[in-house]
Amino acid sequence: MNQNWSGGALDMGSQGHSILVGSREKGRKYGSGPLQMCQSVLPCHANYQGELGAGQLLKWMDTIACLAAERHAGTACVTASMDDIRFEETVRVGQVINIKARVNRAFNTSMEVGIYVMVQEVLSGVMKRVCAAFSTFVVKPRGTQKVTLKPVDVHGSVEEMLEHSLASERRRLRLYNEEAFKNLMMDYYNLQDKGLWNRKAIVPLISTELTRVESIELVLPPHANHHGNTFGGQIMAWMENVATLAASRLCSQFPSLRAVDMFQFRGPSSVGDRLVFKAMVNNAFQTSVEVGVRVEAYNCEKWSEGTPRHINSAFMIYYIPVESERQTFPDVTFTTHDGERRFLGAVVRKRIRMARKHILYSRDEGSISVPWGRNNQVYLGYNNVAALLVLAGKQGWEANNITDKVEVYVHEEADLLCLRVDMEVRTSAFNAFSLLNDLRLRPCWDKHYLSCEEVEKGDEEETVYHVKCGTIHGGKHRDFVFLLSKRQPCKDGDPYVIALRSVTVATVPPDENCIRSEAKCAGFLIHEISYPTCKVSYYNQVTSGVLPYVEGNLAGWSKSMEETAMSCISFLEQDLLTTMF
Ligand code: COA
Ligand code: ADP
Repeated sequence: MNQNWSGGALDMGSQGHSILVGSREKGRKYGSGPLQMCQSVLPCHANYQGELGAGQLLKWMDTIACLAAERHAGTACVTASMDDIRFEETVRVGQVINIKARVNRAFNTSMEVGIYVMVQEVLSGVMKRVCAAFSTFVVKPRGTQKVTLKPVDVHGSVEEMLEHSLASERRRLRLYNEEAFKNLMMDYYNLQDKGLWNRKAIVPLISTELTRVESIELVLPPHANHHGNTFGGQIMAWMENVATLAASRLCSQFPSLRAVDMFQFRGPSSVGDRLVFKAMVNNAFQTSVEVGVRVEAYNCEKWSEGTPRHINSAFMIYYIPVESERQTFPDVTFTTHDGERRFLGAVVRKRIRMARKHILYSRDEGSISVPWGRNNQVYLGYNNVAALLVLAGKQGWEANNITDKVEVYVHEEADLLCLRVDMEVRTSAFNAFSLLNDLRLRPCWDKHYLSCEEVEKGDEEETVYHVKCGTIHGGKHRDFVFLLSKRQPCKDGDPYVIALRSVTVATVPPDENCIRSEAKCAGFLIHEISYPTCKVSYYNQVTSGVLPYVEGNLAGWSKSMEETAMSCISFLEQDLLTTMF
């Protein structure tokens, strides 16, 4: 690719029509705003159906992101990783792709670049979002020179400042990625040992081995930058090529790439290397399939000797095209030990993707709280209890972690994410109910609760509390105003119910020292098992206010929910001891 960077314009040579401009916003120094690239999608960029290939798009995204990074660093940079990407829109020949890239934050030798891709319909001018991504670039100065990056100038828009502060949160997730994966794999092996997680035994099953693809590429100068380092985007494009073939072997048609898990470039490759790409389906989930790709580099001159360098491994998620007659992928199975590990790994990555989607892209839900008053307390109480019972009745909870006393389950439906924690407690259901329905006692066992005060009392069954919670990532504390509705069982077998939801009351206005946060539906259902043992199930529909307290569990780097549940069990059981003696 012939790149000619002069005065803010990039000539992409024969690769299509391209314009690259460094935007000069009013009052902004040249060189600190976002970079933009526009590309007309031509037949040479598209597949047989006239759709833009994801590999080509990844190449463009990496090119512009690298330029944004190098402009900030003032020296050569390489792609270290690219976070999860979800493709939201299919792009076709004749449309125009618009890519913006901006350095969100510089750390020591690495920096995060935000990339936003839109597609424009030429005739109507309608713009749609294709995807957003975050890449990390690391400075690669020549020789032994050490470079520490200068901070990014963030005296811009509110959005820029937000991205700047979120960048360090994303960095934490990224650097924890491998550890989180290992932790969750251990949890799933435990579930498997206990017979609580099994693959479906539906026949006939297709072996994942039948989808294996292998391909080789020689890195030539057009695939590399001016230092001879292979472009990360070029490698991603080659990877997408083989992954698409592996996925198509499973469904005998061309499935569409919907998402890419975090890419990590483990080591560099350069002109003259031969790159071997190996791909196969790891697991199929009805409407989606995970394909894994491994890239190994061989030095051209020592082709037959030495061990290959592991350059990259990535996992891509394909869907069957909407217009296809086939609705689902066939069920797959494994026939080797590695196949079994990868089959399970795909389940774990699906969990991590789900967690990251909610953590990184959770939308602002708008106001959840409803005003509480004496005239509507009956309706609100009913609504509070009904929402909890509906949540508890949902089918398809997935086991997340099971220990002797605590079981954690996750449920995802469209954009709703719900958690359930089951606890087996040696106390009567009535005793557990009495202790849990007084929210002022919760700071005794929940370390997130700093204080809880009763602020309004409805009838015997409805109480409003003001709760202050600790901070997770530093900064201000959070506070909640909860309506707690409690119900005793009407007949044998019914649970005790303690439902919680956010409300607003005039006596507790938002406090400038706290972030007022909201919960939509949470609470406890308590079932008598056999005296003196009961099952306490805690439910929570995750909102942006609650997310900071559970994200560690969802992403696999914390066990704080299990710890809080154990503390709750001790609190409830300890009380049994004090009443017995
Ligand atoms: N994602 C994001 N950032 C990462 C990362 C990852 N997976 N791995 C390392 N980093 C960051 C570190 O946080 C550190 O940042 P900081 O200096 O701002 O604190 C920086 O990279 C250097 O980390 P360090 O531990 O010193 O280096 P390393 O030995 O782990 O090497 C790379 C990191 C990226 C330089 C190395 O893996 C590499 O050369 N990869 C190939 C890059 C390449 O050539 N890409 C083009 C396609 S082949
Ligand atoms: P892991 O085996 O832990 O998934 P690897 O980096 O070895 O990690 O491989 C990444 C992915 O590449 C695998 O999940 C698999 O889908 C694919 N893959 C690895 N080796 C081969 C191979 N020899 N043939 C085909 N595909 C392979």
